[in-house]
Formats: sequence, structure tokens, C-alpha cells
Amino acid sequence: MISIALLADHPTAASTLAQWFRAQWPDYYAGRTLAEIAGDFHAEARRGGLPVRLVAFVAGALAGTIVLREQALTAFPAFSPGLGGLFVPEPLRRRGIGTALIRAATSLARDQGHAAVYTATATARGLLEQQSWELVQTVQHGDERLAIFRRMLKS
Ligand SMILES: CC(C)(COP(=O)(O)OP(=O)(O)OC[C@H]1O[C@@H](n2cnc3c(N)ncnc32)[C@H](O)[C@@H]1OP(=O)(O)O)[C@@H](O)C(=O)NCCC(=O)NCCS
Repeated sequence: MISIALLADHPTAASTLAQWFRAQWPDYYAGRTLAEIAGDFHAEARRGGLPVRLVAFVAGALAGTIVLREQALTAFPAFSPGLGGLFVPEPLRRRGIGTALIRAATSLARDQGHAAVYTATATARGLLEQQSWELVQTVQHGDERLAIFRRMLKS
């Protein structure tokens, strides 16, 4: 069973998240120590406001993460608030953990009173389309072409 919690309630997870993210995105994190990267996660270990990072557990073991933050992409402040930093370890993929994290972070955005939430992705289009997210734009971001998706939260 998948359960979702606030990183604020599991602060020791930050060091594992740092290892996962540095292995997944080595260019982005090049030159930074694991302690520095873990510090980024500690800054997201909050219970309200933005950013707020969530963590997933399966059978009591850390199994993924997502953050609700000010912007989906720093260079595009209109897409606010945004979901990002979504990661599930490779052996645990394709069993619904990413979907559960997106749902939980979307609910958090709704509970915070936001009218809509955005995310930018090159890899998770299928997941978002299955959850009725709407493609609003594609943007060039460095070497990548990213799709910006929106989920309306109020009618
Ligand atoms: C993107 C990512 C978070 C998805 O996590 P995940 O836990 O595998 O996500 P889900 O299991 O909810 O969905 C993944 C796929 O498995 C399918 N799936 C979900 N539950 C399933 C199940 N029980 N059995 C089989 N397939 C299933 C989903 O339909 C989805 O299919 P799709 O790829 O055709 O869209 C993960 O692949 C990852 O961490 N990738 C590397 C980092 C990354 O790209 N992050 C996203 C940046 S925006």
C-alpha cells in the first residue's frame, strides 16, 4: 500500500533523497556535496506555505517524492504554484507511486486555496494526461523542450 506524508514528518529521508537526486540528475547537482543537496530538501520540509515536499512510502520504506513550490519552472513565473522534484526509484516504478504523489500534491495545492497548479515535464506526459491535466504550452528550457501542464482546482 502506498502512503503519502510530509517530508517535515520524516526529516531523516532528506539524505536518501539527496542520493537519489544526485544519481538521477548528475549534471544538475555536479559539484555539490550530498550534505548541501540534503540542505535543499530540509528547506522544503515544511507544513504550510510553499515549498512543501511530500514523500511516499511502500511497506514502510521511502518510495518517492514530489514538491509543491512557487513555480513549475523558475524562468516562467506565471506557472504558479508548481509541482516538481518528482522522483520514484527505478525498481519501484510503474506501480502507481508517481500517480499517488501527483494526486496528493494537487490536493495540497487545492487545500492551500490555489485556483490552479502547473507542472513542467519532458517525461511524465502520459501520467498527467491520465489524470486530466491540460497541456497549456511547450517551452524551451536549456536543451530540453518541456510541456507545461495545468490542473484547474476551482470551477
Ligand atoms: C516519472 C516517474 C516519477 C513516474 O513514477 P511512477 O511511480 O513510475 O509512476 P506511475 O507508476 O504512477 O505511472 C507510470 C506508468 O506506469 C503505469 N502504471 C501505474 N500503475 C501501474 C500498475 N499497477 N501496473 C502497471 N503500470 C502501471 C502508469 O499508467 C504510467 O504509464 P505511462 O508511462 O504510460 O504514462 C518516474 O518514472 C521517475 O522518477 N522518473 C525519473 C525522474 C523523472 O523523470 N521525474 C519527472 C520529472 S517531471
